[in-house]
Amino acid sequence: MHVVLIPGDGIGPEVTAATQRVVAAAGVPISWVVAHAGAACAERFGDLLPPETLDLIRRYRVALKGPCTTPVGEGFRSINVRLRQELDLYASVRPVRTLPGIQVPFQDVDLIVVRENTEGLYSGLEHVVVAGVVESLRVVTQRAAERIVRFAFELARREGRAKVTFCHKADVLRLSDGLFLQAARQVAADFPFIEFEERRIDNLCMELALDPTRFDVLVMENLFGDVISDLCAGLVGGLGLVPGANIGSRYAVFEAVHGSAPDIAGKGLANPIACLRSAVLLLDHIGQRTAAARIESAVLRTLQRGVGLTRDLGGDGTTETLTAEIIRHL
Ligand code: NAI
Repeated sequence: MHVVLIPGDGIGPEVTAATQRVVAAAGVPISWVVAHAGAACAERFGDLLPPETLDLIRRYRVALKGPCTTPVGEGFRSINVRLRQELDLYASVRPVRTLPGIQVPFQDVDLIVVRENTEGLYSGLEHVVVAGVVESLRVVTQRAAERIVRFAFELARREGRAKVTFCHKADVLRLSDGLFLQAARQVAADFPFIEFEERRIDNLCMELALDPTRFDVLVMENLFGDVISDLCAGLVGGLGLVPGANIGSRYAVFEAVHGSAPDIAGKGLANPIACLRSAVLLLDHIGQRTAAARIESAVLRTLQRGVGLTRDLGGDGTTETLTAEIIRHL
């Protein structure tokens, strides 16, 4: 079975290598097809996302991606935004749940953030109107709004979830979020057995800070989803733990929520768990459910035991010690 592997930048090569080791130790017969993307790739090939990388994902359909640095202010479009748009990976899925051994204020968080991945303010449509004035277009289409909300409801149904919360700012963004909200209400009517609620995004932030356990599946547009997924990662112990998937109707790219962490890159300090748990989602996606469950259990046992943990988790271990512990618990 072939899976494309994009090591990425910064801590990307460290956490993807650790992930490959655990997957191999779990006995999953994966042939990794290495492809390049990111800042280091741009230095070599002049492109953050070379066409060969896209071709390989189109060919093998599934990829595991390390985080990629987008150079700021150098005329590059974000590689992540481009990848999601080029492959129409319209749904970002980030399951967030409290993990054993991790000290956080709330013990029973178990929610999924579903984010529209191709439109909104991340459409990449920006221009200078006159010197000193810039416009960024926030695009919302009926089609994309409907399909992401439908995706969230289908996911809720598949996972036995009771409620979908649609998050918006339709009171101010009357036309764009107005259209999104209307589409959400229409789709919700097709799923009468799943509770549907609406929240303004600012209000949602306050409610998440007060009691995140009351949420189940959250669905929202691109920028709101970007911010809320990091916020939710913080609620359960930080960026080093939370996995993610970018799903389209043809392709799927799995990656951690975190970035390339240049402050700790190359020091052996990166926590590989978010990347590894993204691989768990990938294994589930390609039907390797037993291996996926085995790796997830090994991660949970490792966290419960608290040995070899990296600094972000309060330990004094390294990527190496944490990876070895997880393999020991397989
Ligand atoms: P970041 O997520 O890379 O780092 C934020 C903080 O969390 C840092 O202190 C970092 O050390 C820590 N951290 C992140 N992941 C960690 C891990 N696995 N283990 C231990 N500590 C971890 O966010 P930042 O600094 O805003 O972005 C750095 C670069 O990453 C930027 O160029 C940005 O564009 C890129 N980025 C890429 C993403 C992707 O490829 N999916 C997503 C987010 C950012």
